[in-house]
Amino acid sequence: MKTLIKDGTVVTAQRSFPADVWIEGETVRDVAPSLPRENADRVVDAAGMLVLPGGIDVHTHLDMPFGGTTSSDDFATGTEAAAWGGTTTLIDFAIQAKGTRMRDALDTWWKKADGKASIDYGLHMIVTDLPEAGLEDMDAMVEEGVASFKLFMAYPGVLMVDDATIFQAMRRTAKNGALICMHAENGGVIDVIVRRALAEGKTGPIYHALTRPATAEAEAVHRAIALAEIAGVPVYIVHLSSEDALNQVREARDRGLPAFAETCPQYLLLTEKELERPDFDGAKYVFTPPLREAHHPPKLWDGLRRDHLQVVSTDHCPFCFKEQKELGRGDFTKIPNGGPGIENRLQLIYHHGVNQGRISLTRFVELVSTTPAKLFGLYPRKGTIAAGSDADIVIWDPKAEHKISAATHHMRVDYSMFEGFAVKGNVRTVFSRGDVILDGGVYHGRQGRGRFLKRAARGGAWA
Ligand code: URP
Ligand code: ZN
Ligand code: ZN
Repeated sequence: MKTLIKDGTVVTAQRSFPADVWIEGETVRDVAPSLPRENADRVVDAAGMLVLPGGIDVHTHLDMPFGGTTSSDDFATGTEAAAWGGTTTLIDFAIQAKGTRMRDALDTWWKKADGKASIDYGLHMIVTDLPEAGLEDMDAMVEEGVASFKLFMAYPGVLMVDDATIFQAMRRTAKNGALICMHAENGGVIDVIVRRALAEGKTGPIYHALTRPATAEAEAVHRAIALAEIAGVPVYIVHLSSEDALNQVREARDRGLPAFAETCPQYLLLTEKELERPDFDGAKYVFTPPLREAHHPPKLWDGLRRDHLQVVSTDHCPFCFKEQKELGRGDFTKIPNGGPGIENRLQLIYHHGVNQGRISLTRFVELVSTTPAKLFGLYPRKGTIAAGSDADIVIWDPKAEHKISAATHHMRVDYSMFEGFAVKGNVRTVFSRGDVILDGGVYHGRQGRGRFLKRAARGGAWA
């Protein structure tokens, strides 16, 4: 199939320019002005539209057992919802349970995705313990294209690992070229604060935020970067939520260290006030790190603009309010941590970033697609529109108006964190490796068409 996308404005991380895009099968073959219509099997009119590389969400949790339950989107519903929002690639997390081999976790997550994913996906590996064999497992994962590992400095007794384990893992990535992704919060200190709050009868959702101070995030970010500096490797801080933590990343980057960080729409657009909602509604906003006070989001936007932050991901980890968040009524520590967002990332960042003049159009593409691809070993196959790249393309209507709501979204979850948010700018057509999987509000994707992506190591060297 030969497809010509005609008369649009192509946007990459470098520039935005009028051009046509020629696709053959799964691959972009040419990007140039006025390409001839002859020989095209299909011509897609993109006049008045932006032609963007498909979104890449490097932080999702589909079908993940967590907090006594399992995240409500699986690889079928989650990848379809992603496509509705213009995301054509995601990277999810497999979890190596303590005492088990990483290979088992990889097999488990491949099974979860197999026959279900409708867009391409990669996997990171969450490391929960690291005996000698674990270090060899890390190399084996890199061979399989799982070229990044997440470690937790929080959730003691569940996912948290100590500094020695973190340092060992980092040293291994100096050899195998993988990237360490860090959940940076001081879990031990937070645990003490949490236990005291519960003993004082402070049990509502707001105490989730009040027991996880921004300083505990900043301290852990500082420590993660220091450990990476000693090991001589890059480090990627996930879901950064506060000005305090951002300052640590900025200072490290000013010193020339390869420290990278992502933030998420919820930290840019919501505050801890949401956790005070009555009737346990605040539980909808319980995720970790927590929402912060109102002075933090403007600093994060500024960080995105100045490249102190490099990526916007979602940390999509949905739990239904009725059956799942309920588990923590009467004890905020039992509320499953996580919130939904895979569908709304591009809409929210385009509207609140580009339309509001906070970031440029090219920076938008860089944050939601190009840098994620570069850092995580997918570039230039993904993350740009250029000859030889996969034809993962979003035709974006900058004038389309949309109101975000659980009543109309495609995520399998009974609420939206952004209920009632009005956005201008939305997808019109989504290509995944040359297939039109969404067009004009009609979904054409197929479960099982999404492929596992073997990612290259040393992605961090690109950025
Ligand atoms: O609350 C969150 N973020 N849940 C997902 C797990 C994690 O820490 O990313
Ligand atoms: Zn995390
Ligand atoms: Zn997460």
